[in-house]
Amino acid sequence: MSPHPPIVRWGLVLPLAAVALAFYLGLDDQTYCYQGVKTPAWSETPSANCFTVQDGKFFDVSARAQANQVNVQQGFAYPGLWDGHGHLLQYGEFLHSVDLFGSESFDEVRGRLLGYLDRNPGVGGKDEWVRGIGWDQMALGGMPTADMLESDPRLQGLYIMLDRVDVHCIWVSKAVLALLPDDIPDIPGGEIVRHPGMGVFCDNAMDVVMAVWPRPGPEKKKEFVRSAMKDLHSVGLVGMHDAGVMPDDLKLYEEMATSEEDGWTARVYAMVECKERNTFCPDDVQKVELDNGLLSIRSVKLFADGALGSWGSAMIEPYSDRPDTTGSLLVNASTLTSLARQWAAAGYQVNIHAIGDLANRLAIDAMEAALKDVCPKDSLLACQTAAHRFRIEHAQIIHPDDQARMFELGIIPSIQPTHATSDSAYAGLRLGEERVKTEAYRMRSVWGLGPVLGSDFPVEPANPFAGIYAAVTRRKPDTGTAGPPGSGEGWCVDEALDLEQALHGFTAAPARGAFLEEVAGRIEKGMWADWIVLDERLEDMEVDDIRRVRVRETWVGGRRVFKRE
Ligand SMILES: *[C@@H]1O[C@H](CO)[C@@H](O)[C@H](O)[C@H]1NC(C)=O
Ligand SMILES: [Zn+2]
Repeated sequence: MSPHPPIVRWGLVLPLAAVALAFYLGLDDQTYCYQGVKTPAWSETPSANCFTVQDGKFFDVSARAQANQVNVQQGFAYPGLWDGHGHLLQYGEFLHSVDLFGSESFDEVRGRLLGYLDRNPGVGGKDEWVRGIGWDQMALGGMPTADMLESDPRLQGLYIMLDRVDVHCIWVSKAVLALLPDDIPDIPGGEIVRHPGMGVFCDNAMDVVMAVWPRPGPEKKKEFVRSAMKDLHSVGLVGMHDAGVMPDDLKLYEEMATSEEDGWTARVYAMVECKERNTFCPDDVQKVELDNGLLSIRSVKLFADGALGSWGSAMIEPYSDRPDTTGSLLVNASTLTSLARQWAAAGYQVNIHAIGDLANRLAIDAMEAALKDVCPKDSLLACQTAAHRFRIEHAQIIHPDDQARMFELGIIPSIQPTHATSDSAYAGLRLGEERVKTEAYRMRSVWGLGPVLGSDFPVEPANPFAGIYAAVTRRKPDTGTAGPPGSGEGWCVDEALDLEQALHGFTAAPARGAFLEEVAGRIEKGMWADWIVLDERLEDMEVDDIRRVRVRETWVGGRRVFKRE
């Protein structure tokens, strides 16, 4: 080999040295190889098996021909999952409170309360009430009362507040009732259950109790958030849409998400909920888009009606099992519309809770009016799709005419597949056959709208594989069975999604529903390095095994936040 002139040799050495230095300094630069990596191009066989992470983002995603030369780890990498509708603080609080889900008698409720008191001695005083969630009057054989909670000497005199399974009613103890004014009048948009005795307050009537509840302070809330995030990571969630956060809590979120020490590890897309529900409070909040991608605030949550279980959803026609009522709106049509217009004008994404078909109709009316304000006349659909992305949270029972209007306007439904399977027990009774067939719990027929999927935790378990299973099978993830007798393979299986769609609903769709499609929901160069590791390819599993998936690892921004023991 002939020697090169020195100048040429330095020309080679310098860049090489620079590369070596960059490698040395770029501690963040890591390559991960798995048996397969689920990229958008993944089809029959994995199309990539390695990726490099740089500055918390995916850099290079590729198939390594020389895979045998790198350390290939067991498992398959999937994009990190998002829950499109949950409640972070409430979930944390739930993890610190009495779990009453699935309790089938008052004896069982009492047993769980006593067990909780054994584990949490000292709770139940005036300053720290016993909190619980998950009771259902259907399982208890009728509406419970405050007196029932006095039936055990160990519960007597305690301050207790227990949320109904759908969090639209609370059941309180006598000590709590004693804090309330005598002779509370009826409250519009709410119900004070007076028979067989006092103790249960629903929807707007819950405010009477909430006014005297000693709210947890900031330190306790931080603990709730940390517990919640840890738990969410353990089931494969990297992010969530928080469907209603009060202004003070949004400030706490921002403080936690910008601090290194507070243990904020998940991505949160938080919807503003004014201190007073269904109002316009832009001066109490601030839009936020953190550089670290851990918090964004640019949407508002409004509430049109209550839940189906308690006949609280607002219906166009009366309930089939209660012809005397059509449910109730929490706010009238003109107020809902003016709120949507005000928030849209202030640059917020408008997300309206709507369950009954009347509530959904009025939500669409409100959104249409708001879009007409903020969009050019001839392109509401394009403008909504690009810039506003108004959403209906739950979108459970929608008249066929209004389903068509959602397509005309491109309104995004935010759906909880496990609500469909849980509610299937009584949806037929409440709605009757025709409405079930044409209006209720649509998934496949609204697929074109890019539905965001979620769980509504703590109302339902946070595990997204339960949601994926329910979406794909329309069967209950806890039992693997369809709801009411005669449901066949699954409840209204015509509305089931396929696996790819369900995964999309927990990844790319919530990313789009949060204006984050450029950075979240896929394993692709330039996106946030958020992924999970599964033992097997979901695509190869028996469908029934999907409800039993246990995540191996969860990574957010290139940092491991969960590892299965
Ligand atoms: C709607 O509700 C608002 C606020 O409660 C009230 O001021 C208004 O008169 C109501 N409008 C109609 C049409 O009932
Ligand atoms: Zn919710």
